[in-house]
Amino acid sequence: MARVLSGVQPSGSLHLGNYLGAIRQWALDQFVADSFYCVVDLHGLTAEHDPGELRQRTLETAVGLLAAGLDPEVCTLFVQSHVHEHAELSWLLECTATFGELSRMTQFKDKSLGRESVRAGLFTYPALMAADILLYDADRVPVGEDQRQHLELTRDLALRFNSRYGETFVVPEAAIPKVAARVMDLQHPERKMSKSVESPLGTITILDSRDEIARKVRKAVTDTDGEVRYDPDRKPGLANLIELLAASTGRSVDEVVGGYTRYGPLKGDLAEALAGALAPVKARYEQLSADPASVAALLEKGAAKASAVASATLRRAQQAIGLLMPGSADR
Ligand code: TYM
Repeated sequence: MARVLSGVQPSGSLHLGNYLGAIRQWALDQFVADSFYCVVDLHGLTAEHDPGELRQRTLETAVGLLAAGLDPEVCTLFVQSHVHEHAELSWLLECTATFGELSRMTQFKDKSLGRESVRAGLFTYPALMAADILLYDADRVPVGEDQRQHLELTRDLALRFNSRYGETFVVPEAAIPKVAARVMDLQHPERKMSKSVESPLGTITILDSRDEIARKVRKAVTDTDGEVRYDPDRKPGLANLIELLAASTGRSVDEVVGGYTRYGPLKGDLAEALAGALAPVKARYEQLSADPASVAALLEKGAAKASAVASATLRRAQQAIGLLMPGSADR
């Protein structure tokens, strides 16, 4: 059975980009692959954060993942910091990566641009992400388009480590969806949808009500030429709406384009489709968040399952790279 791993940062309510770009696929993969999913709280330390808020969001993000369809009986759901091997393997991979390749990461460049003080962890972030993946011998990593470069680096690090120190890691593949791999902000369609605090009207979260979804879709920025055509360069706002409708109804982009001559009806159908898809997620979220102790217990179980796999891989990597194993005289 193939192994799958993916992760999400606890940076606020899960949004439509997270859901369509990644998490919906996770919920399908769990039935066909041995799947590990984590809330990457250590990655949440790479930018300014509030300790209490981070803790709360970590739990809320786990609740969001369960609400979006992850079944802890079928997959392994855990919090990254509960499995100490992530931080430990990260160091070995920092010592495998070079300063030059980490400097080329576009996400680092974007996030550090114009900032006076940038945490060192933001720079080494991709090594930690590579550790998340390589610890589980993942064959496949379902992510949105924005993670492609990090996945390429992960592959490079795995290959380099294997060739220097002997076969240690499985070299993973990114699994990026055909549509909605890069969901754009509804108000600023030139940038990707992200945390709702940055653009409340441009971001649809999994907890938005039917009315909020309808309002945000109605107000979504399009263009004035009025022609229904898929042209992400010249008509990014409309192209985003077309992709969202395709992704949320299972139709192709061409089918969606062929079905409309005006923007209004397309927006109306999109609001309906999104509200229909997200209503059960929101309902499950409300139910689950009433019992945080059960969610915490289930995360503890997930961490125990994850640790069993992670500790074996870490040992293999430590041995390969030349660390003297405790209690061993092996050379
Ligand atoms: P994060 O937390 O930003 O996002 C979680 C997942 O959602 C996808 N995504 C999107 N997809 C389409 N359109 C968007 N607008 C959009 N925004 C987010 C992301 O591609 C991602 O798949 N570095 C990762 C977290 C991570 C990870 C890992 C992922 C840490 N370790 C190991 C995979 C494997 C991140 O910041 O994702």
